[in-house]
Amino acid sequence: MAANPRIYLSPPHMSGEELDLVRDAFESNWIAPLGPHVDAFEKEFAEYLHVDHAAAVSSGTAALHLAMRLVDLSAGDEVLCSSFSFCATANAVLYQGGIPVFIDSNKSSWNMDPDLLQEELEACAEKGRLPKAVISVDLYGQCADYARIEEICKRFDVPLIEDAAEALGATYGDRRSGTFGAMAAFSFNGNKIITTSGGGMLVSNDVRLIEQARFLATQARDKAPHYQHSTIGYNYRLSNLLAAVGRAQLKVLPERIVARRRNFEQYKRLLGKMPGIHFMPEAQYGSCTRWLTCITIDPEAFGASRDEVRLALEAENIEARPVWKPLHLQPVFQGFRSRGGEVAEDIFIHGLCLPSGSGLSEEDINRVVKVVLTLLKR
Ligand SMILES: Cc1ncc(COP(=O)(O)O)c(C=O)c1O
Repeated sequence: MAANPRIYLSPPHMSGEELDLVRDAFESNWIAPLGPHVDAFEKEFAEYLHVDHAAAVSSGTAALHLAMRLVDLSAGDEVLCSSFSFCATANAVLYQGGIPVFIDSNKSSWNMDPDLLQEELEACAEKGRLPKAVISVDLYGQCADYARIEEICKRFDVPLIEDAAEALGATYGDRRSGTFGAMAAFSFNGNKIITTSGGGMLVSNDVRLIEQARFLATQARDKAPHYQHSTIGYNYRLSNLLAAVGRAQLKVLPERIVARRRNFEQYKRLLGKMPGIHFMPEAQYGSCTRWLTCITIDPEAFGASRDEVRLALEAENIEARPVWKPLHLQPVFQGFRSRGGEVAEDIFIHGLCLPSGSGLSEEDINRVVKVVLTLLKR
């Protein structure tokens, strides 16, 4: 008998139109990290978000690194960032020789706790050493609390960078993710809600920042007929071929959000009343895309631990993953300060990301749920 087909955590989901646009790129011979699809992708992306400017780059990490350059981060400067995140958030700080200071999450959104951010900024102000920036992450498709975070950053006059890599399409009030702070970074990595296989975008309402980002991302080439460089740049621009993929993906983003939310609703219906299972809470202030559906499992009440559930799923050829390990616990970031940390630690011990691809069928989700329920305490 054939084995069950594998259910992946969050695989790419092409619409079909990507190939037409890639063919167009081939036919025009714009096989380069610039070209008409890059320009159009930037424009269409900015229009979708209602921001003024966007620069397409090779990854979300590159976008964050450029943001750190643009706030003039240099060796020894501190940057406050969400602890509950992927390593890229803090890596961007370290690429510039900066010092990440980790801020814990709150239980109500799993995102940066504004009270802890305020406490840390007050402590920094008292020492007379304010950070160069704050990077706030929008986790698993949900915006952080920007009314508060923006106000706090403004009060201390510290630039805010939104790491919206996981939250394209999420909203906060009537604004989309990526429209808060001085700049925001997005990712089009293969597991994201739309993908270019690899890619990213830096967005801002400040044209000077985005022009400077494009300059730095193309090896900081000065205006001259020969190759002239007065500062260090990077090779960070997005390929025209991948921008073609991104344009077709952007068109179907609304459908992808509906599909991811539908997954969540089905999981919630089937698992929401089970003892010991809780879903990532959705804050009142906006709408979460449910890029990934995440649960926490209390082993006492449920009858099995997060890892037992994950391994049972793996045995049935279903991919599920623990939620992010908080950055303040990562060996590579040992020795950096953390304000709080217990909330993210607790979610990390119990949290699991369930298969969440926008191509999942109802049967696929039923298959996942059936395995989870085999472990439920009788
Ligand atoms: C919160 C967060 N920031 C940054 C990144 C980095 O994006 P990329 O993989 O495109 O470099 C990711 C994930 O990929 C992410 O989840």
